[in-house]
Amino acid sequence: MLYLLDTANREEIAVLIEQFPIAGVTTNPTILARESEPFEELVRGIRATIGPERMLHVQTSCEDPTRIVEEALALRDLAGPPFFAKVPVTALGIQAIMRLKKQGVGVTATSVFTQQQALIAARAGADFVAPYVNRLDNIASNGVAVVNDIVHLFRLYGLSTRVLAASFKNVEQVHEVSMAGAHCATVAPELLKLLLYHPLTDMSVAEFKKDGPGCPRWSSDVEPEPPA
Ligand code: E4P
Repeated sequence: MLYLLDTANREEIAVLIEQFPIAGVTTNPTILARESEPFEELVRGIRATIGPERMLHVQTSCEDPTRIVEEALALRDLAGPPFFAKVPVTALGIQAIMRLKKQGVGVTATSVFTQQQALIAARAGADFVAPYVNRLDNIASNGVAVVNDIVHLFRLYGLSTRVLAASFKNVEQVHEVSMAGAHCATVAPELLKLLLYHPLTDMSVAEFKKDGPGCPRWSSDVEPEPPA
């Protein structure tokens, strides 16, 4: 499973891409609105921060298919490759997805809450589908079970569309979608850090530090101490 960052905060992105194996960044209008930079500057800035190798997913906001296509093409120019236009899985959105795929634009079908929405988006040609795990859990549904079914359906029908699981609030949800075979998970910075955290790891490192020879002994700029 690939890890993506679900944030538009450039400072956090810059730090975390150095610390974690991050395959890309996802945003939505709410995430972008949290930042103070103007929209275009922000999207260009995120691309400059993540470089040309990582994916950037930016959501369209129009409802009419013709307008969605125009918006997605403009966003593609702004964001640069590898780019994926996020398009919600409404009927008009699916229409736009089919048109965008004819024009060779990368697409992430988003706001996915059911297995059939995902299957229709995949048949329409979407490169990714983004099921919202926590938002499903919040309404007494089961987000992980939906992800599991979507993965199963894509395998069953030999579809190349990948599952980009989204909307997480805890480590267990992320772990469970990885067990279900989700291809990617996009997580907020704080949750990403929690995926790596364990108090026993910290305790072990502290113990090894106390017992070990210490880092400076092997540093290139410090002479090793002679044996006693
Ligand atoms: C993906 O980019 C989604 O828009 C995002 O993960 C939704 O997360 P939320 O449910 O925490 O708002």
